[in-house]
Amino acid sequence: MKNTVTTFQNAKDKHEKISMLTAYDYTTAKLMDEAGVNSILVGDSLGNVMLGYENTLSVTMEDMIHHGRAVRRGVKNALLIIDLPFMSYQASVYDAVINAGRLVKEAGANAVKLEGGASVCPQIKSITEAAIPVVAHLGLTPQSINALGGFKAQGKDEAAAKRILSDAKAVEAAGAFALVLECVPSKLAKLITESLRIPTIGIGAGGSCDGQVLVYQDMLGMFSDYTPKFVKRYANVGDTIKQAVAAYCQETGDGTFPAEEHEYNMPDEIMERLY
Ligand code: KIV
Repeated sequence: MKNTVTTFQNAKDKHEKISMLTAYDYTTAKLMDEAGVNSILVGDSLGNVMLGYENTLSVTMEDMIHHGRAVRRGVKNALLIIDLPFMSYQASVYDAVINAGRLVKEAGANAVKLEGGASVCPQIKSITEAAIPVVAHLGLTPQSINALGGFKAQGKDEAAAKRILSDAKAVEAAGAFALVLECVPSKLAKLITESLRIPTIGIGAGGSCDGQVLVYQDMLGMFSDYTPKFVKRYANVGDTIKQAVAAYCQETGDGTFPAEEHEYNMPDEIMERLY
């Protein structure tokens, strides 16, 4: 079944959970879509897991469009959301609308995601008015890493919790159709989820959110630079890849690969005429 912004809202209304995973390339996106995930996010986390940066600040619009296009070709049914990268929307509403439009026109996004609360509400309102659905993102917002002073849980004291709750209400009022909550206490995520009409998608925000999102390299055991507390490993694909590559190297070295079944043949009489 095709997933849309309407199916997201219906899921919340019917108390059905929403599944979301990141993807950054055609092959992975196609596998995920075939497995039935509701939504695929081309996150700017591609800066970490695909490009090897320390954070997401260096990711460009061109990076997002390049990976977004590849994912688009692999996705039939999942709702495709693409992140607006750092400094593509913060400086002005104009930038925000133009760059959200590029993600739709050039990469085929069904929706865009941006980080921040009240301060980016004018951007959310204008992008939404341009008929581009917006997902907001609160809590640990990696594009603010320098201001936050590190990757750590947010909203743990009263003032911070109140700020996140009021930002959540503000982004909903500005027109966001969903809200990602990253690394906030589960009880706060529950309160926000109950306070909003739109669905919340949690990552490190507990089981009360209306849906969950994970970075696929984390949940498949492919990324070992660091593993956040909230990650559940559903497979050890990293180990499988290493074992397969080691076996390939071994067999290439000892000549057992390629075997006869991997070779192309030709008639002997043609071969004889070549000598
Ligand atoms: O960039 C990303 O992958 C994200 C998710 C972690 C929500 O924003």
